[in-house]
Amino acid sequence: MFIMKKIFVSISLFFFVSCSFNSQTTVKSPDSSISLDFQLSNDQPFYTIKKNKKVVIEKSLLGLILENKLDFSSGFKIQETSNSSYSDSWAPSFGEESNIINEYNQLSIILHKDSLEMKLIFRVFDDGVAFKYEIPNQTGIPSYDIIDEKTEFNLSPNDKAWWIPAFSYRRYEFLHAYSSIDSISKKYFSDSVEDISYDTLGIDAAHTPLTLKKKNGLYVSLHEANLINFSSMTLAPKGDGNLEAELYPWSDGIKVKLESEIISPWRTIQIAENSSDLLSSNMILNLNDDPEEGSDFSWVKPGKYMGVWWEMIGTNQSTWWPSANHGANNKKVIKYLDFASKHKFDGLLVEGWNIGWHPEWCCSGNGNPFSFTETQDDFDLPYLSKYAKGKGIRLVGHHETGGQIQNYESQLDDAYSLYKENGIKFIKTGYVNDVSKNIKRIDENGNIVYEWHHGQFMINHMQRVIEKAAEYEISIIKHEPIKDTGLRRKYPNFISREGAKGQEFNGFSSNGVNHITVLPFTRMLSGPMDYTPGIFQLNNFRFKSPDNKVIDNAAIVPSTITKELALYVIMYSPMQMAADLPEHYLKHPQAFEFIKNVPVDWSEKVVIDSKIGSHIILARKDKFSENWYLGGITNQESRTVKLDFSFLEDDKIYNLNIFQDTDNTHWKENPMKYEVVSRLISSNSTIDLTMAEGGGFAIEITVTK
Ligand code: NOJ
Repeated sequence: MFIMKKIFVSISLFFFVSCSFNSQTTVKSPDSSISLDFQLSNDQPFYTIKKNKKVVIEKSLLGLILENKLDFSSGFKIQETSNSSYSDSWAPSFGEESNIINEYNQLSIILHKDSLEMKLIFRVFDDGVAFKYEIPNQTGIPSYDIIDEKTEFNLSPNDKAWWIPAFSYRRYEFLHAYSSIDSISKKYFSDSVEDISYDTLGIDAAHTPLTLKKKNGLYVSLHEANLINFSSMTLAPKGDGNLEAELYPWSDGIKVKLESEIISPWRTIQIAENSSDLLSSNMILNLNDDPEEGSDFSWVKPGKYMGVWWEMIGTNQSTWWPSANHGANNKKVIKYLDFASKHKFDGLLVEGWNIGWHPEWCCSGNGNPFSFTETQDDFDLPYLSKYAKGKGIRLVGHHETGGQIQNYESQLDDAYSLYKENGIKFIKTGYVNDVSKNIKRIDENGNIVYEWHHGQFMINHMQRVIEKAAEYEISIIKHEPIKDTGLRRKYPNFISREGAKGQEFNGFSSNGVNHITVLPFTRMLSGPMDYTPGIFQLNNFRFKSPDNKVIDNAAIVPSTITKELALYVIMYSPMQMAADLPEHYLKHPQAFEFIKNVPVDWSEKVVIDSKIGSHIILARKDKFSENWYLGGITNQESRTVKLDFSFLEDDKIYNLNIFQDTDNTHWKENPMKYEVVSRLISSNSTIDLTMAEGGGFAIEITVTK
């Protein structure tokens, strides 16, 4: 039986229904720090949010426009308001924390417009506000298709955001811009981060999570939760600090196609006094559901994996496609399996095992369709999976779809049953198609149409994949995914995903040295990331081509070994990769020990210090022992931090195993230099640690008595 045990004591749930139609209603968070005001003004619904005395969101419009221009943003009267409170906690089967408190005050408002009805539900937590729309099935609504969402997030022109562009070619794989809200545009992004000016389809908007630092000092992140059978929300600047929800449309322009009622995802506004508190919010997960009654996900297990992967994408010594340098060959895979099993990894990813790969496979969506059941000649799936099983490890499957959705869907059952027969428990999926609005679909009339990567068509596809994979007891690590909106609570087999520029870009281009000091506060607020840390050979690793094994000395991973270790603590993923080659790990056995030891399942998290784009220092407690792990990373600047250990238990002595930069470590000049220092401390000790330019540190903390 599944596992999301309710472990809290009392659920206090009270209702108060009012029919006294005040046009303004306020609801506060359980700790009273956050307040949400709802009002009808000129018969239009608006909300305002404050934290203590500071304005978070100024008066902002709510509403939807349905097909036939049926306007659900004006002409309303309040029919009924009701208040309730909820307080509970729950235990995820694995995660960043073993106990999650879910506490909020709720305001539900039924609005009517002549005979038509719309419900707004607001939840006010101590860490933010969420709301959603419900339009129940009723007479007088000929179509539930949505042609526009009117939700506004009225901020201030002085508020600044970390953002990536929506409606552009490479999904979520961009470095972040940092600008005023009003500057969010392809032009600004092209001038300051990466040229996307040629990408003229679509509008100026940003993806969520969009993280803001407000002029009044508050930190805010706008996102959505429980995105099912809808379209992704982006945020478009309307001037004067106002952002408006913009949904990705289908190829025919309709934003969301629904049969008989509307239940929108939650629109979420996480609010914190400082950047570290943003990282402590569990609001997105709390707005998702437990697995369905009777479902069993006990087969989903966190773990660590290696891969026949970096040698294609990073070191460029092998190919995915058939060639003299084909990576996924039996001999090579056996070598990796021996190494990975010896070092107690749970899985080995093998890419390029199937038919369909060719040198031009990437990235237009036009390649030959992949087969997900036929292997390349030098890869023997039954033999290798049996060999792996005998060594206590499993192959991790790989399905690169190239964004060819209907080809993939037509093979799902065959592909998953083949993998299941071979004992495979995880599949990394991929959707590389680097052209805007280029997901090919044969529509109901047999016509070829092209969809956006983030529209309802793709959201429903991802849903089908995750549900189908669960039938075969397979967990999915999704690359080029839809953003995480907390569905991993209901579908624990949605175990991890990419959804940002990950480590792989350092293989074939560069993310620069500061990117990973932004990711935890932006992309990672949505959920775990398959960033694929653990590159130890940080320079002189890449060949010019698989056929020309001359080192490309311009290629570097802008990091240090200590920083790579720290990422195992900072970048949460329940399925965590050690991305480098076995021979590179053998050169640094002590640092490799850290990767082997570091847990993937945690009971507690403490953010010790952080500043977005600058540094982050974070500690996590192992779920199955008294051990703690601490990671610190910095941007291009060297930084000395004073660590205090007050989060540890009193009256215990702990041993620290510190992996630290040396005096001459430097992300560019000397990235692989580190030292290991041990010392004893207690909860009232403090120590100073220096991170080199672009460096970090990682600490293993074990109890001695
Ligand atoms: C892009 C993925 O992010 C990467 O990890 C994978 O190796 C390639 N696609 C090929 O599928």
